[in-house]
Amino acid sequence: METDSQIAHVLHDEHKRIMTLMKRLEGIARGSWGSTVPDIADDDIASLLTDLDTELAGASEHHFQFEEVKIFPALIAVGDVTVPYLLRQEHDLLRNLSEFMIPSVELARRQGFTADSWSEFRDLALELAEKHISHIQREEAAMLPALQGLFAEQRDDELVTQYAEA
Ligand SMILES: [Fe+2]
Ligand SMILES: [Fe+2]
Repeated sequence: METDSQIAHVLHDEHKRIMTLMKRLEGIARGSWGSTVPDIADDDIASLLTDLDTELAGASEHHFQFEEVKIFPALIAVGDVTVPYLLRQEHDLLRNLSEFMIPSVELARRQGFTADSWSEFRDLALELAEKHISHIQREEAAMLPALQGLFAEQRDDELVTQYAEA
């Protein structure tokens, strides 16, 4: 990604990380197990569930809040209103989906999947992965390029530190 903004690079790296997780989730939900209900004793399934739990219970929320508190207001201040408005709506949709997904993930980690719980999990997982991936694509196309030159160097450095701290 070509930008001088260090915080844009940090957010881009986070997007890549979340995107990789969502693609893993999508791969499993789309049927890398064929018609079989996945076994939580399988290493790939166990690590996917652990990573999803961490992501949905905290990491994504940290990322969303940082964008809402530190990035969107800076864009709005220079008259860029539509992009933050749409992105904020997508955050709320993703939060809502995560809220329903977390109990499914936790139940699966404790008890494994039945045919029914797997079917429900798979539907939610596909919805979550699709919405998350399209959200990230929108930010990569419309938000990160707008950060070029938006923050003075010192402020840009401060934002990088603040992202790492919370
Ligand atoms: Fe976002
Ligand atoms: Fe983001």
